[in-house]
Amino acid sequence: MESLNVWITGVYEAGPVIGGLAALGSLVAISLGAQTLSFVYKSFIRPGKDLKKLGKWAVITGATDGIGKAYAMALAKKGMNIVLVSRTEAKLMDVKSEIQGKYNGIEVQHVVCDYSNFDKAAQDKVQKSLEGLEIGILINNVGVSYRYPQFFHELTDDEVRALLMMNIDSTVWMTRIVLPGMLDRKKGAIINISSGSALYTLPLLAEYSGAKSFIEKFSRALNAEYSAKGVTCQCQVPFYVATKLAKMRKSLTVPTPSEFAAMGVRWIGYADALVQPFWLHGLQAWVMFQLPEVVIAKGIMAMHLAIRKKGLKKDAKIAEDAMNKTK
Ligand SMILES: NC(=O)c1ccc[n+]([C@@H]2O[C@H](COP(=O)([O-])OP(=O)(O)OC[C@H]3O[C@@H](n4cnc5c(N)ncnc54)[C@H](OP(=O)(O)O)[C@@H]3O)[C@@H](O)[C@H]2O)c1
Repeated sequence: MESLNVWITGVYEAGPVIGGLAALGSLVAISLGAQTLSFVYKSFIRPGKDLKKLGKWAVITGATDGIGKAYAMALAKKGMNIVLVSRTEAKLMDVKSEIQGKYNGIEVQHVVCDYSNFDKAAQDKVQKSLEGLEIGILINNVGVSYRYPQFFHELTDDEVRALLMMNIDSTVWMTRIVLPGMLDRKKGAIINISSGSALYTLPLLAEYSGAKSFIEKFSRALNAEYSAKGVTCQCQVPFYVATKLAKMRKSLTVPTPSEFAAMGVRWIGYADALVQPFWLHGLQAWVMFQLPEVVIAKGIMAMHLAIRKKGLKKDAKIAEDAMNKTK
């Protein structure tokens, strides 16, 4: 009897705590439910914007392959004229023909630019090529990662410099080039392609992860600065997409570039600052966020060490073959 009394007193005293926990649990459930509904609505139900209303032209960097080319095709399909910017002229001409063969009446221009050396002269050249065009959309897509995961000190100075130029300078200076025109017309959308690698601690891809984190923060702040002036800035965050850069084949969680871009264009022009257009990437990110950071970092370190081992082996073989040739 006495123990029953103790139990009842305990429950009575713990009442407010249990009540508090139940209320907290309900709040978490409501918040999760609202987030899920919002994600489903925005990914599948909300209609895409009429992109031609933003301006006649879309500029895409790194536009001859992968996600950039897929975006060029998707935006041409929406009736936008396209400026392709990339480093290989022959590939630019091929993509230009492909777009014009597929979409009647779409104008396509191209600019040759090597973003691994995007200095003042290169910036001026791009700026001059874009003069007089009513640019409604800029897709800052060009970017590069490591050849394979490595410790930061193992990279060459040239690799370190090119990675900063390709991922950060390209985005910052292309934005400076198109933004004034967009502000004059009070409309425009800037899409910056970041990476899932910006979301977590990513040992052995430190500089890439850091550069893509810059893209996220830069985009968020610009969106807050300019969306009230009619210009949105959105950071789109892919996980793996089946491209040359990723060296991955298509699978359930690895979309083709066309599948990614088809979902990506649905978000253009909305003031959502950070988005994962491919919905399974959003789900993957959510699951990973539930795990402790230390677990993620250790898991990624182990995975990257294994890939690095294969990369080093491949490099050693290339060096050996080159030596044998010179003998
Ligand atoms: N694929 C993924 O899984 C993944 C995941 C997360 C984030 N991302 C990001 O998505 C973006 C696009 O990646 P992707 O996988 O589509 O790459 P990709 O298939 O390798 O295509 C790269 C494009 O950029 C161009 N390019 C390469 N180096 C250049 C340079 N120095 N100057 C000018 N253009 C250059 C290439 O042109 P050329 O044909 O002339 O080489 C090509 O058009 C990158 O910012 C990347 O970080 C990709």
